[in-house]
Amino acid sequence: MMASFLCFFCFASLFTLVLITSSAPAAVTAEEFKVGGDDGWRQPGSANETEMYARWAATVRFHVGDSLRFEYNNDTVVVVDKWGYYHCNSSHGISVFNDGNTVINLERPGPVYFVSADPDHCKKGQRLMVEVISLRSPPDSSPAPSPFSGAGSFLVAPQLVFCYVLLIAVSFNM
Ligand SMILES: *[C@@H]1O[C@H](CO)[C@@H](O)[C@H](O)[C@H]1NC(C)=O
Ligand SMILES: *[C@@H]1O[C@H](CO)[C@@H](O)[C@H](O)[C@H]1NC(C)=O
Ligand SMILES: *[C@@H]1O[C@H](CO)[C@@H](O)[C@H](O)[C@H]1NC(C)=O
Repeated sequence: MMASFLCFFCFASLFTLVLITSSAPAAVTAEEFKVGGDDGWRQPGSANETEMYARWAATVRFHVGDSLRFEYNNDTVVVVDKWGYYHCNSSHGISVFNDGNTVINLERPGPVYFVSADPDHCKKGQRLMVEVISLRSPPDSSPAPSPFSGAGSFLVAPQLVFCYVLLIAVSFNM
Protein backbone atom coordinates (compact mmCIF):
# COMPACT_ATOMS: atom_id res chain seq x y z
CA MET A 1 0.00 0.00 0.00
CA MET A 2 2.72 2.41 1.06
CA ALA A 3 4.86 1.36 -1.90
CA SER A 4 2.14 1.90 -4.51
CA PHE A 5 1.45 5.30 -3.02
CA LEU A 6 5.15 6.11 -3.39
CA CYS A 7 4.98 4.93 -6.97
CA PHE A 8 1.97 7.10 -7.72
CA PHE A 9 3.71 10.07 -6.10
CA CYS A 10 6.79 9.43 -8.20
CA PHE A 11 4.87 9.54 -11.48
CA ALA A 12 2.89 12.55 -10.34
CA SER A 13 6.06 14.52 -9.66
CA LEU A 14 7.51 13.37 -12.98
CA PHE A 15 4.41 14.70 -14.71
CA THR A 16 4.76 18.03 -12.90
CA LEU A 17 8.41 18.22 -13.91
CA VAL A 18 7.49 17.68 -17.57
CA LEU A 19 4.85 20.38 -17.31
CA ILE A 20 7.24 22.87 -15.75
CA THR A 21 10.02 22.31 -18.27
CA SER A 22 7.68 22.37 -21.29
CA SER A 23 5.70 25.43 -20.33
CA ALA A 24 8.82 27.45 -19.55
CA PRO A 25 9.23 30.94 -21.09
CA ALA A 26 7.30 31.78 -24.32
CA ALA A 27 6.17 34.78 -22.26
CA VAL A 28 4.41 37.11 -24.66
CA THR A 29 3.45 40.42 -23.18
CA ALA A 30 0.93 42.87 -24.52
CA GLU A 31 2.27 46.32 -25.26
CA GLU A 32 0.77 49.78 -25.01
CA PHE A 33 1.76 52.28 -27.69
CA LYS A 34 1.41 56.02 -27.29
CA VAL A 35 -0.09 57.22 -30.56
CA GLY A 36 2.17 59.68 -32.35
CA GLY A 37 5.02 59.12 -29.89
CA ASP A 38 6.05 62.43 -28.31
CA ASP A 39 3.64 64.37 -30.53
CA GLY A 40 0.62 62.62 -29.09
CA TRP A 41 -2.74 63.00 -30.83
CA ARG A 42 -2.96 66.48 -32.32
CA GLN A 43 -3.79 68.43 -35.41
CA PRO A 44 -0.78 68.35 -37.75
CA GLY A 45 0.68 71.81 -37.98
CA SER A 46 2.19 72.02 -41.44
CA ALA A 47 1.97 70.40 -44.87
CA ASN A 48 4.92 68.14 -44.18
CA GLU A 49 3.02 66.60 -41.26
CA THR A 50 -0.08 65.36 -43.10
CA GLU A 51 1.34 61.85 -43.05
CA MET A 52 2.61 62.00 -39.45
CA TYR A 53 0.27 59.25 -38.14
CA ALA A 54 0.81 57.02 -41.14
CA ARG A 55 4.56 57.42 -40.61
CA TRP A 56 4.20 56.65 -36.91
CA ALA A 57 2.03 53.56 -37.54
CA ALA A 58 4.60 52.25 -40.03
CA THR A 59 7.17 52.04 -37.23
CA VAL A 60 5.07 49.75 -35.03
CA ARG A 61 3.73 46.21 -35.32
CA PHE A 62 0.32 45.98 -33.68
CA HIS A 63 -0.83 42.65 -32.26
CA VAL A 64 -4.09 41.48 -30.80
CA GLY A 65 -3.92 42.25 -27.07
CA ASP A 66 -1.87 45.42 -27.49
CA SER A 67 -3.39 48.80 -26.80
CA LEU A 68 -3.16 52.37 -28.05
CA ARG A 69 -2.99 55.40 -25.78
CA PHE A 70 -4.23 58.66 -27.27
CA GLU A 71 -3.12 61.78 -25.38
CA TYR A 72 -4.68 65.05 -26.50
CA ASN A 73 -6.13 68.41 -25.46
CA ASN A 74 -9.42 69.85 -26.60
CA ASP A 75 -9.84 67.20 -29.23
CA THR A 76 -11.52 63.86 -29.84
CA VAL A 77 -10.81 60.29 -30.86
CA VAL A 78 -13.49 58.58 -32.90
CA VAL A 79 -13.30 54.94 -33.90
CA VAL A 80 -14.71 54.86 -37.43
CA ASP A 81 -15.01 52.46 -40.33
CA LYS A 82 -12.90 52.58 -43.46
CA TRP A 83 -15.31 54.96 -45.21
CA GLY A 84 -15.28 57.37 -42.26
CA TYR A 85 -11.48 57.31 -42.27
CA TYR A 86 -11.11 58.11 -45.95
CA HIS A 87 -13.86 60.76 -45.94
CA CYS A 88 -12.90 62.32 -42.58
CA ASN A 89 -16.50 61.82 -41.56
CA SER A 90 -17.18 60.64 -38.03
CA SER A 91 -20.97 60.87 -38.17
CA HIS A 92 -21.21 57.05 -38.15
CA GLY A 93 -18.50 56.73 -35.54
CA ILE A 94 -18.39 53.48 -33.59
CA SER A 95 -17.19 55.14 -30.38
CA VAL A 96 -16.30 58.70 -29.46
CA PHE A 97 -13.85 59.81 -26.76
CA ASN A 98 -12.99 63.31 -25.56
CA ASP A 99 -11.43 62.70 -22.14
CA GLY A 100 -7.93 63.63 -23.30
CA ASN A 101 -6.39 60.28 -22.38
CA THR A 102 -7.98 57.35 -24.16
CA VAL A 103 -6.80 53.77 -24.16
CA ILE A 104 -8.11 51.53 -26.92
CA ASN A 105 -7.57 47.79 -26.70
CA LEU A 106 -6.84 46.04 -29.98
CA GLU A 107 -9.05 42.99 -29.61
CA ARG A 108 -9.30 41.65 -33.15
CA PRO A 109 -6.98 41.20 -36.11
CA GLY A 110 -7.55 43.48 -39.07
CA PRO A 111 -7.57 47.22 -39.74
CA VAL A 112 -8.82 49.75 -37.15
CA TYR A 113 -9.51 53.38 -38.09
CA PHE A 114 -9.46 56.53 -35.96
CA VAL A 115 -10.16 60.16 -36.77
CA SER A 116 -10.54 63.43 -34.96
CA ALA A 117 -14.22 64.38 -34.95
CA ASP A 118 -13.17 67.77 -36.30
CA PRO A 119 -13.15 67.22 -40.11
CA ASP A 120 -10.68 70.05 -40.50
CA HIS A 121 -8.19 68.36 -38.14
CA CYS A 122 -8.75 65.07 -39.90
CA LYS A 123 -8.14 66.52 -43.36
CA LYS A 124 -4.87 67.99 -42.17
CA GLY A 125 -3.83 64.49 -41.23
CA GLN A 126 -5.18 63.77 -37.75
CA ARG A 127 -6.32 60.26 -38.58
CA LEU A 128 -4.84 56.87 -37.96
CA MET A 129 -5.16 53.44 -39.44
CA VAL A 130 -3.51 50.48 -37.75
CA GLU A 131 -3.34 46.96 -39.09
CA VAL A 132 -3.64 44.51 -36.19
CA ILE A 133 -2.09 41.08 -36.64
CA SER A 134 -3.08 38.07 -34.61
CA LEU A 135 0.08 36.25 -33.65
CA ARG A 136 3.44 37.36 -32.37
CA SER A 137 6.18 35.61 -34.28
CA PRO A 138 8.45 33.78 -31.83
CA PRO A 139 11.83 35.43 -31.21
CA ASP A 140 14.41 34.01 -33.63
CA SER A 141 17.00 33.29 -30.97
CA SER A 142 14.87 31.14 -28.65
CA PRO A 143 12.94 28.26 -30.22
CA ALA A 144 10.06 26.85 -28.20
CA PRO A 145 11.39 24.66 -25.36
CA SER A 146 10.57 20.97 -25.54
CA PRO A 147 10.40 18.76 -22.42
CA PHE A 148 12.83 16.19 -23.85
CA SER A 149 15.53 18.50 -25.11
CA GLY A 150 18.14 20.65 -23.50
CA ALA A 151 18.37 21.09 -19.75
CA GLY A 152 14.92 19.59 -19.13
CA SER A 153 15.96 16.08 -20.14
CA PHE A 154 18.72 16.01 -17.53
CA LEU A 155 16.01 16.21 -14.88
CA VAL A 156 13.27 14.21 -16.57
CA ALA A 157 15.26 11.20 -17.78
CA PRO A 158 16.76 10.06 -14.42
CA GLN A 159 13.45 10.48 -12.68
CA LEU A 160 11.69 8.45 -15.38
CA VAL A 161 14.19 5.62 -14.81
CA PHE A 162 13.74 5.92 -11.06
CA CYS A 163 9.95 5.73 -11.37
CA TYR A 164 10.12 2.58 -13.51
CA VAL A 165 12.49 0.88 -11.10
CA LEU A 166 10.11 1.75 -8.30
CA LEU A 167 7.16 0.44 -10.33
CA ILE A 168 8.90 -2.86 -10.96
CA ALA A 169 9.83 -3.16 -7.27
CA VAL A 170 6.22 -2.50 -6.28
CA SER A 171 4.78 -5.06 -8.69
CA PHE A 172 7.17 -7.74 -7.37
CA ASN A 173 5.99 -7.08 -3.82
CA MET A 174 2.31 -7.49 -4.72
C1 LIG B 1 8.13 70.55 -41.24
O1 LIG B 1 8.20 71.91 -41.62
C2 LIG B 1 8.54 72.77 -40.54
C3 LIG B 1 8.52 74.20 -41.07
O2 LIG B 1 7.30 74.44 -41.70
C4 LIG B 1 9.92 72.41 -40.01
O3 LIG B 1 10.25 73.23 -38.90
C5 LIG B 1 9.91 70.97 -39.58
O4 LIG B 1 11.21 70.56 -39.17
C6 LIG B 1 9.45 70.06 -40.71
N1 LIG B 1 9.34 68.72 -40.21
C7 LIG B 1 9.79 67.68 -40.89
C8 LIG B 1 9.56 66.34 -40.27
O5 LIG B 1 10.33 67.76 -41.98
C1 LIG C 1 -11.10 73.74 -28.88
O1 LIG C 1 -11.40 73.19 -30.15
C2 LIG C 1 -12.41 73.88 -30.86
C3 LIG C 1 -12.72 73.08 -32.12
O2 LIG C 1 -11.55 72.62 -32.72
C4 LIG C 1 -11.97 75.32 -31.14
O3 LIG C 1 -12.98 76.00 -31.81
C5 LIG C 1 -11.64 76.00 -29.80
O4 LIG C 1 -11.11 77.27 -30.04
C6 LIG C 1 -10.62 75.17 -29.00
N1 LIG C 1 -10.42 75.74 -27.70
C7 LIG C 1 -9.22 75.90 -27.16
C8 LIG C 1 -9.18 76.46 -25.79
O5 LIG C 1 -8.19 75.58 -27.77
C1 LIG D 1 -20.95 62.67 -43.15
O1 LIG D 1 -21.71 61.73 -43.91
C2 LIG D 1 -23.10 61.91 -43.78
C3 LIG D 1 -23.77 60.83 -44.58
O2 LIG D 1 -23.45 59.58 -44.07
C4 LIG D 1 -23.51 63.29 -44.26
O3 LIG D 1 -24.89 63.49 -44.07
C5 LIG D 1 -22.72 64.36 -43.48
O4 LIG D 1 -23.00 65.64 -44.01
C6 LIG D 1 -21.25 64.07 -43.60
N1 LIG D 1 -20.51 65.03 -42.75
C7 LIG D 1 -19.48 65.71 -43.18
C8 LIG D 1 -18.84 66.63 -42.18
O5 LIG D 1 -19.05 65.62 -44.33
